Amino acid sequence: MSATQSAPPKTPQRGGDDDQPLLELEDVVKHYHSTGEVVRAVDGVSFSLCSGEMLALHGPSGSGKTTLLFLAAGLMRPEGGTLRFRGRDLATMPERELSAYLRGQVGFIHQHTHLMGNVSALENACLYLILGGLSLRQAKAAVIPWLERVGLGDRLSHTPEQLSGGERQRLAIARVLAKHPRLILADEPTGNLDSVRSHEIVALLHSIARERSAGVLLVTHDLEAAGAADRRMVLRDGRLLEAGDQEQARALIAGGPDGHRRP
Ligand SMILES: Nc1ncnc2c1ncn2[C@@H]1O[C@H](COP(=O)(O)OP(=O)(O)O)[C@@H](O)[C@H]1O
Ligand SMILES: [Mg+2]
Repeated sequence: MSATQSAPPKTPQRGGDDDQPLLELEDVVKHYHSTGEVVRAVDGVSFSLCSGEMLALHGPSGSGKTTLLFLAAGLMRPEGGTLRFRGRDLATMPERELSAYLRGQVGFIHQHTHLMGNVSALENACLYLILGGLSLRQAKAAVIPWLERVGLGDRLSHTPEQLSGGERQRLAIARVLAKHPRLILADEPTGNLDSVRSHEIVALLHSIARERSAGVLLVTHDLEAAGAADRRMVLRDGRLLEAGDQEQARALIAGGPDGHRRP
């Protein structure tokens, strides 16, 4: 895999082609009310992500990381605040445009791989791209090089049960990258990978950010993976830690995924 041979570093561009951040969050709030009590999953989060940049997001379990990715993908509406993609407010996008955003611009690498059981690796990857609007021929042409790039070239006809956890994860990543998304939202994409593969996948995501002026928001508990990012943020109880909370941030990062957000 060529992931480790990433392109020479380039300064992330603020906006690149249109001179504005790729993704901007301003005071975003998402509370859940379904269980009778209010869960303040995301509680006033602001940051921006530029084209060509990879941003690592840490936080203990339950701190709101997945909710934040769902909001950025437009899969969930915030109760407050603003999310903008290249200056366009997701809240005021008509449903059709929002669907096109999700299909065409966003690559969501889910924490769980969501693969179909009795279907080969190649068919799984193609199905995903066909749902995004490609023909079978186009899907195959688009995805095979990516499956090869993540080291699955000799696993195309294996079903998910015949793949290891790490191979399933790489399959789920390859089919998303084949879409050439402008914004990659990756929810612990290296959780099932050994350290060498994990390093390769993170390097691959980083090189894609640089080469394609994509933005990568990477949720990870892997310190080495986070170290490869251009910036790191720490989420706790739905809020980003301020720069002044560095000690707390270091302790949380070092503490890994365990722990709960509220007593
Ligand atoms: N659909 C839901 N209904 C109620 N509470 C939820 C729902 N989804 C997530 N939560 C709660 O919101 C908080 C943040 O969850 P999540 O975004 O999954 O955190 P993380 O990805 O950091 O583990 C947690 O306390 C979780 O239990
Ligand atoms: Mg999560």
